[in-house]
Amino acid sequence: MSELSVNLAGVTLANPIVLAAGTCGYVNEIADAFALGRIGAITTKSITKESREGNPPWRIIDSPAGMLNAIGLANVGVDRFIAEKLPAARGLPCKLIGSVAGHSIDQYLSVAAAFDRAAEIAAVELNVSCPNTSDGLQFGEHPQALRALLAEIKPAVRAKPLLVKLSPNVGDIVAMARAAVDGGAQALVVANTFSAMAIDVESRGFRLSRGRGGLSGPGIHPIVVRMVHDVWRGVARDAGVPIIGLGGVCNWRDAAEFILAGATAVGMGTALFIDPRAPLRVVDGLDAWVARQGCRCITELIGAAKA
Ligand SMILES: Cc1cc2nc3c(=O)[nH]c(=O)nc-3n(C[C@H](O)[C@H](O)[C@H](O)COP(=O)(O)O)c2cc1C
Repeated sequence: MSELSVNLAGVTLANPIVLAAGTCGYVNEIADAFALGRIGAITTKSITKESREGNPPWRIIDSPAGMLNAIGLANVGVDRFIAEKLPAARGLPCKLIGSVAGHSIDQYLSVAAAFDRAAEIAAVELNVSCPNTSDGLQFGEHPQALRALLAEIKPAVRAKPLLVKLSPNVGDIVAMARAAVDGGAQALVVANTFSAMAIDVESRGFRLSRGRGGLSGPGIHPIVVRMVHDVWRGVARDAGVPIIGLGGVCNWRDAAEFILAGATAVGMGTALFIDPRAPLRVVDGLDAWVARQGCRCITELIGAAKA
């Protein structure tokens, strides 16, 4: 057996696999599919200060190489999340990452501060990259806006590592990563969904109620591998900031590519809709791959792609 544990900004994960925000419910709903001690962490769906209905249907549709979603951050709001959902995290055999979203700095602040106080949450992730609400990208598209958000949030998140989930819908993701690290991000998630659109050619209507949504799944994977590598080489490696590579991972090879590109951990989202037990095969495949590479620990392979 290879050593698969990784250190995500001071949080030890049993292995690199992290279930992605919004793809597995609030906390432990996927426990019916497999024993959660087999993965590294679960990320909550993004939680906002007030409850949100999200967008009307259709808000999830399939696509030849993945899916488009325009859920729009539907959630019960932070107070109900803490009272009704978070108790399920007591005794969780993997780590829980709390994902935070909002419309304003104050809204981000109240959820992030509540998560910082919650014993069940190991790390706080700022989703500044949702393409499915009117202003979900207001802090994720310009370095100055991200710096302004982090200047307020960072002092409020004292007990837990602060993660920033970057948008792929920007011209220069390395500049955004640099702004996040300068602002105190202790890990980076690369990345959220790609802004996309689908049209029904008979009715000529948009297939998603909102017109546009976010593309995820295998079709985006090679683009995100390139982004992980760019962010690792451009910022994260020298800053000592770990990356969660997230986008289109369906099998262990996809996960191994992210590790070689510079990721410390690997997220999985859309794959869970195809097979909720897919993470188990990825963990077993990584285990065997590390041994075949002649390594004892998976960490020896982080960023080890040969130029
Ligand atoms: C149905 C659905 C809901 C999502 N909800 C959220 C969310 O609440 N917060 C967030 O940060 N990302 C959300 N995402 C984005 C995923 O966390 C992930 O970044 C993206 O799907 C790319 O990974 P994948 O290709 O493995 O799915 C959602 C994705 C899907 C498919």
